[in-house]
Amino acid sequence: MTFSSAIVNPHYAGTRHQPRTKQAVYARLPDAPINGSPVPHLTSLYHNNDRDAYGDRRYPGNCGGMLIRDLITYFSPGNVLDPMTGSGTCADVCKELSLPCTSLDIRYGFDATDPACYEKQLNGAKFDFIWAHPPYWRQKLYTVNSRDLSRTDSLPEFLEGYASFIRCCAESLQPNGKFAILMGDYNDRSGFIPLVHYTKELAFKAGLRQHCTDIIRFSHGASSSRKVYRSSFIPGLHDVCMIFEKIPQ
Ligand SMILES: C[S@@+](CC[C@H](N)C(=O)[O-])C[C@H]1O[C@@H](n2cnc3c(N)ncnc32)[C@H](O)[C@@H]1O
Repeated sequence: MTFSSAIVNPHYAGTRHQPRTKQAVYARLPDAPINGSPVPHLTSLYHNNDRDAYGDRRYPGNCGGMLIRDLITYFSPGNVLDPMTGSGTCADVCKELSLPCTSLDIRYGFDATDPACYEKQLNGAKFDFIWAHPPYWRQKLYTVNSRDLSRTDSLPEFLEGYASFIRCCAESLQPNGKFAILMGDYNDRSGFIPLVHYTKELAFKAGLRQHCTDIIRFSHGASSSRKVYRSSFIPGLHDVCMIFEKIPQ
């Protein structure tokens, strides 16, 4: 399988870095071993760029539903929780698959970092599969609610809320239940923030174990890909889906 990447960038025009060709380049992905998966195209490199009708593409941070659909097809859960649903991408996938999905967000009054909300609004319900696509700290701002993780002022404050969120989700899993978190590293004025690393650290602290390989999701269509920067850096063109599971007691 191949993916394409335009290598033309107006920033290089007239410089010694100007690419020699204006043709798209293609990288060959490694062959995947044949196995019994119901979704054999679901590998550690996720590059599906198909437009889909799940969620709302105009919503900031919308993630597209194909990866969620593939994961649900693979794990075949009986019910799903999406505690940071944004435009409802996961809920739309579940609707298509006729799967019960509890879809919540701070926008609708559910604070996914607060254990009391799980008690009050979910009555302590347990789930086979949790899909979570949290804010990449303050990369994009979502609501004006001070409990919104994207509104936290400092990294320690973000990590405190994020840790509580991961603990709450771990508590809400059935034994052997799966918890998929889509997260990206983040870079801003305070430097490089390895949010993927922190996610794993917090998940392990919450008593979860990693179920399988990281899934590197190619960030096709990211708004930053269309920008021109004067500074020099190594662009991050992916985010990472990590799948954790609850160890049965
Ligand atoms: C990356 S977006 C999710 C986008 C979604 N995957 C989609 O496709 O539309 C992150 C979401 O987390 C929500 N959020 C931030 N802090 C929250 C909190 N404490 N509790 C619940 N939701 C929160 C934001 O409102 C935002 O909708």
